[in-house]
Amino acid sequence: MPITVLLGAQWGDEGKGRITDALAKEVDIVARFNGGDNAGHSLTIGSQVVRLHLLPSGIFHDACLNIIGNGVVVNPLSLLKEIAEVNSAGVSVTPRRLRISHAAHVILPGHRALDAAYEAAGGIGTTLRGIGPAYSDKAARFGIRCGSMANPDDFAMAVRAHTLRVNAILTRVYDRPPLDAESVAEEYRAAAHQLAPFLEDTAALLHNALAQGQRILAEGAQAALLDIDHGTYPFVTSSNATIGGVLTGLGVPPRAIGRVIGVAKAFNTRVGGGPFVTELEGDLAARLRGSGANPWDEYGSTTGRPRRVGWLDLVALRHAVRLNGIDELALTKLDVLRGLPELHVCIAYRFGDRVIDHFPQDSALLARCTPVYQTLPGWQDEVSHARCPEDLPAEAHNFIATVERFAGAPVSLVSVGPEREQLIRRQSTITRCN
Ligand code: GDP
Ligand code: IMO
Ligand code: MG
Repeated sequence: MPITVLLGAQWGDEGKGRITDALAKEVDIVARFNGGDNAGHSLTIGSQVVRLHLLPSGIFHDACLNIIGNGVVVNPLSLLKEIAEVNSAGVSVTPRRLRISHAAHVILPGHRALDAAYEAAGGIGTTLRGIGPAYSDKAARFGIRCGSMANPDDFAMAVRAHTLRVNAILTRVYDRPPLDAESVAEEYRAAAHQLAPFLEDTAALLHNALAQGQRILAEGAQAALLDIDHGTYPFVTSSNATIGGVLTGLGVPPRAIGRVIGVAKAFNTRVGGGPFVTELEGDLAARLRGSGANPWDEYGSTTGRPRRVGWLDLVALRHAVRLNGIDELALTKLDVLRGLPELHVCIAYRFGDRVIDHFPQDSALLARCTPVYQTLPGWQDEVSHARCPEDLPAEAHNFIATVERFAGAPVSLVSVGPEREQLIRRQSTITRCN
């Protein structure tokens, strides 16, 4: 059974966790392939809203095995805190439900301290979770892998040595206080004892699962425009959130992938710095962002920062469709657009006296682009009660059809609210054309 991939098609927070949770009941394994606890995936389960950062979003399905793949960077303390939260939400996270790749890299306090030092020296608005420094250490071959937690004493020694090395940089380069290497080592020794039973050669596990015909869903964190190679560099995260990240981040071959679902919001948001062509300010921005009274309002799930908001950028979405070979789109938050008299979607960029229809690789150029909009009629009817395509108003159908035509991929899922049942499956009249 081929792998289904689910990844973000914008700047993150599209509702990946919510869609993964919905699809997880149909699969045997959900595997996270990139990022770390910079991600915030909110799931609404009955009356509970749970924010997952490292745990894959299949964790609430009893029959589903959840894998943290080798492409993920794991903060052991964050993971233990999250496991405790999920346990208190009534789901016991045991090795039957969760496996962590031996080859995933560990995030240590030194990484967080360096992230904070880099940001203070003029950064891009990271989540301060130590993501960039952890992936830097991985690439520089200084990293510590999760597999070393199998021997907590050796792990504690490696953590101590890492902290001392980071201390030299913190004190000498950034004039910052050092970390207490002994207490960090002790804290991480204890965490290693707790996490050791979850360690696994997850690539081998996935190969066996593929051979047995098991159904696998690969869940991405972040999104195409935050990808280290294809996003709006340097305003990006430090991993590949696009399709290549599935292969390297899980160790599965390209032919094992059968279906790629891109998750996109009906408007755009972004947290942190960087170009955002369709960005809105003032009343309309406040209307799309929400006041913060609802759990789904546009405030970061990880940092609580207000998200920047703007109209749907179809030039950027088509870029994400092409980069990833997206077969189907899941379009979320249609309910949030209800009540606006008219909607805009960006169909090209203006750069000086030129009109361009592609997403520029150069962020400096993108920052100087302005949007060319198509105006569409809004819908006034409540859509959050819709459960099938026929329940949606004509204006919403028109909006979806415009997205499909421009992005070049059919919209097979439409989300009209955060709850499990607020998801509509839909047959499209268009086929993928990327
Ligand atoms: P992720 O990082 O891609 O998983 O997305 P986040 O969880 O960070 O942000 C999406 C937010 O929107 C979450 O609070 C979801 O519960 C919520 N959400 C997802 N789909 C919908 C939808 O269709 N309508 C509304 N109102 N909220 C949604
Ligand atoms: P999910 O999986 C939105 C952004 C940060 C910052 C940049 C680099 O919930 O969609 P980092 O801490 O990764 O070094 O920060 O990336 N960012 C996200 N934005 N959703 C996310 O994850 C993000 N993860 C990182 O705001 O601009
Ligand atoms: Mg999020």
